[in-house]
Amino acid sequence: MRIGWIGCGRHAGEMLLPQLARLDVEIAALCDIDAERLSTIGRRHGVPEARRFADPMRLLDAGGIDAVGMAVGPLQHRDLAIAALGRGLPVFMEKPPGRNAEDARAIAAAAARAGKPVVVGFMKRFSTANRIAINHARGFGARASFLGEYMTAPTYFERDPDYTGFYLHHCVHYLDLVPRLMGKPAEIRARRHELAPGKLLLHVDFAFAGGGLGTLVMGTHQSRATPMEWWQVMGDHERVEVRNVHEVRLYRAPGFKVDDPAARLVEGEDAMAWEPNLTVAANEDHKGYHAILAAWLDLLAGRPRPDCPTIADGVAAMEVLDAMLRSAETGEAVRLPG
Ligand SMILES: NC(=O)c1ccc[n+]([C@@H]2O[C@H](COP(=O)([O-])OP(=O)(O)OC[C@H]3O[C@@H](n4cnc5c(N)ncnc54)[C@H](O)[C@@H]3O)[C@@H](O)[C@H]2O)c1
Repeated sequence: MRIGWIGCGRHAGEMLLPQLARLDVEIAALCDIDAERLSTIGRRHGVPEARRFADPMRLLDAGGIDAVGMAVGPLQHRDLAIAALGRGLPVFMEKPPGRNAEDARAIAAAAARAGKPVVVGFMKRFSTANRIAINHARGFGARASFLGEYMTAPTYFERDPDYTGFYLHHCVHYLDLVPRLMGKPAEIRARRHELAPGKLLLHVDFAFAGGGLGTLVMGTHQSRATPMEWWQVMGDHERVEVRNVHEVRLYRAPGFKVDDPAARLVEGEDAMAWEPNLTVAANEDHKGYHAILAAWLDLLAGRPRPDCPTIADGVAAMEVLDAMLRSAETGEAVRLPG
C-alpha cells in the first residue's frame, strides 16, 4: 500500500507517521507547505526528494500512491479530502472532518461519489482501555448514564480566546466517543462558564435516544501535565470507568463482606481492574493511533472493520458539535434529528 501523506506537523511527525511506518505500507510521497518540516520528515521516513511536495495538488496529481493520509487542519481536511476522492483515492484524515457538519457532509458526498472510504482519526475508540470498557458498556443490558471529563489547558486559547480550536480539535473527540458508548443523542444542552479569557468550562448534558442521560464536562482550565480524561457508563447494577485512558474498572453487584470472616473476591461479582504494563519492551500504543491506522489499512484491503470511524461518524460528531454550540449560544436545549 503506497501512502501519500499531507501535513508533516507535530502530530503527524510524532504520532501518526511513526505508527503508520510500523504497518505494511510505503510512505511513497509527502507534502507540507513548510519546507523545513517536509525535509525533516522526508529524511526520517526515507522519502526521496522528488517525492516531497510543497503543493498538495501536485502530490495528488503525481500518481504512484494508493491512498492519502492527512493531518493538516479543518478546512484543508475538507478541501484536500474532496480533491483526493475526486482522483479516486481513499482517505485517512485527522479530526476534525471540516469546520462544521456542512463541511463533513460535503466530504461524505464526495466519498459516496468516488465509492471510496474516508476514515476520521477518532482514535479514542481505539485506546486499549477505552476499547475494553466500550465492549463492556455496550454489553450492559441498559445503558443508564454517562459521566465524563475531558479537559485541556489554556495554552492555545489565551492567545485567541474564541475557542474555535478547542471545539474543533478537542471537544470533537468526545462527541464521537460518547455516542459510541451511549447511542445516538436525541437532545443536547450546553452551558458555558468563562473563568478568565482562555479558560472556558463547558457542561454538556445529553438525553440519548435509548433513554439514557449523560453529562460531559470539558474545559481549558487544567494543566496538561495532569491526567485529563475520566469517564464512566452505568448500567443496572454494573458500571465501567476509564481513568486517564489506561485504567479500567468494572463494578458488578457483589454482596457485603463486612460480616463475613471468610470473605474473598468472588468471580463474576466483585470488581475487576485492568491497566497495561507500561514497562514491557514492546512497541505498544495504548492511545490508539496504531490501532486506528491498522483499522484503516484493513478497510483498504476490503476487510470489514465496523469499529472504524468513517466519514458517516464524522458527520454525526460534527452535527452534535454544531448542536452543542447552538445550545451554548442560546442557553436552550437543541434536539438532534432522529
Ligand atoms: N487525534 C489526536 O490526538 C490529535 C492530536 C493533535 C492533533 N490532531 C489533529 O491533527 C491536525 C494537525 O495538528 P498538528 O498539531 O500536527 O498541527 P501542526 O500545525 O503542527 O501541523 C499541520 C501541518 O500542516 C501543514 N500545512 C498547513 N496547510 C497545508 C497545506 N495546504 N498543504 C500541506 N500542508 C499544510 C503545516 O505547515 C503543518 O506542518 C489537526 O487537525 C489536529 O486536530 C489530532
